[in-house]
Amino acid sequence: MAVAFAVNRGALPRCCPVNNRASQIEAEVAASRALGQGAALLGKFASPAIRESAFHDVDANRHIKRRRKRQLACRAAGASNAEKTVARSEDRIELGKTGLQVSPVGIGTLQWGDPGSGFGDSYDEETLKEVFDTAAEGGISFFDTAEVYGYESIKKGQSSEQLVGRFTKSLPAGKPAPVVATKFFTIPWTNLLVGGGFRFGRKSMIAALKESLKRLGKDKVDLYQIHFPFPTFSNSTLMDGLKEVRDLGLADAVGVSNYSLAQMEDAHSLLDKHGIPLASNQVQYSLLSRAPDKSGLLEKAKDLGVSVIAYQPLASGKLTQRQLERGEQGSELRPLLQLMSFIGAVNGGKSVTQVALNYLVCKGAIPIPGCKSVVQAKEHVGALGWRLDENEVATIEEKLASLSL
Ligand SMILES: NC(=O)c1ccc[n+]([C@@H]2O[C@H](COP(=O)([O-])OP(=O)(O)OC[C@H]3O[C@@H](n4cnc5c(N)ncnc54)[C@H](OP(=O)(O)O)[C@@H]3O)[C@@H](O)[C@H]2O)c1
Repeated sequence: MAVAFAVNRGALPRCCPVNNRASQIEAEVAASRALGQGAALLGKFASPAIRESAFHDVDANRHIKRRRKRQLACRAAGASNAEKTVARSEDRIELGKTGLQVSPVGIGTLQWGDPGSGFGDSYDEETLKEVFDTAAEGGISFFDTAEVYGYESIKKGQSSEQLVGRFTKSLPAGKPAPVVATKFFTIPWTNLLVGGGFRFGRKSMIAALKESLKRLGKDKVDLYQIHFPFPTFSNSTLMDGLKEVRDLGLADAVGVSNYSLAQMEDAHSLLDKHGIPLASNQVQYSLLSRAPDKSGLLEKAKDLGVSVIAYQPLASGKLTQRQLERGEQGSELRPLLQLMSFIGAVNGGKSVTQVALNYLVCKGAIPIPGCKSVVQAKEHVGALGWRLDENEVATIEEKLASLSL
């Protein structure tokens, strides 16, 4: 321990501000003690490589100290970590102000039915059915699809919407149906991919949704989203379209995707005039793409009661345990992954992937990681039922600020 701590001394002033030698020694002693307690936890959960790297990270030292303090406070209040986890494992959150309840983590199905991602080769319908059942069984109750996901498999009845629709129907009787979201692709020539006419005006949205519903095998979808703004549709045309979708009873809730802060506010106010809540804005958001946080979109969405759905929450696979295990030693990302691994370890053996998802949940977003194996589904389920605390979130953000990622 003493050796590991000596390595960190150079960085001590940044994380433990001390003004004189005496208080520096005091800080070192306290941190060494805390490091010993963290070591016991780490020894239980982390691989030797991760243990070693975590001990060489001053952020980890500070984290252990803070965690220890909180554990003591928790114990004093009579609550154990186990109790905290059980109480949260069934939690649901409201999608916008719609009354629809979803799990804090969903599943994205962009790759389902897509031969370009290996569908029909490295995974197939049977695999994805198992993925779906594993996720649903584990408490994930939100699945995101789109009319264009896996469009090349439409004729075979295996596009993403068709698969999600079938899997939803085949859940055992008595199991609550998950919330399913799909999207309207705003590009006028989308018909070249999924069929139907040239897209112009709000009627084309209704026609597209009816086709989506056929593929999903449903009379109405839970959430219908505009995939992204496109110049051939004004925002008011799109919002009028969503109003009509609601009037016709074709969707319970409506949302948007890839909308900037200003576009989101506009959409919210256009729908509000009809008394319809904007349920969600689905945007790219991960630890490596924090624009929604930095631009104020996340905060504004909270004010307006709009859920932020985080797509590519794993930065397309970069923020995963697998990346840490396979990654190059000297990569820019490695110190962040090592810290996340450490924080996961002290949260009961959670992986980098689970920390990446949980971070977004803590920020108030609903991550929808891509998933096409049962192993991945189980890992995503393990992001539910617990929360990073605010110090852990802050430590991760500090680490990010110190790296030029
Ligand atoms: N609205 C939009 O414009 C938009 C745009 C993009 C995505 N989305 C939505 O967001 C969802 C997620 O986005 P995404 O799939 O592009 O990005 P992502 O979730 O950040 O990353 C998916 C990648 O991470 C890997 N991965 C997933 N789980 C893993 C695990 N447990 N361990 C290791 N690797 C893991 C996958 O690897 P493998 O390839 O090995 O499985 C895949 O390559 C999509 O499915 C879609 O629903 C929406």
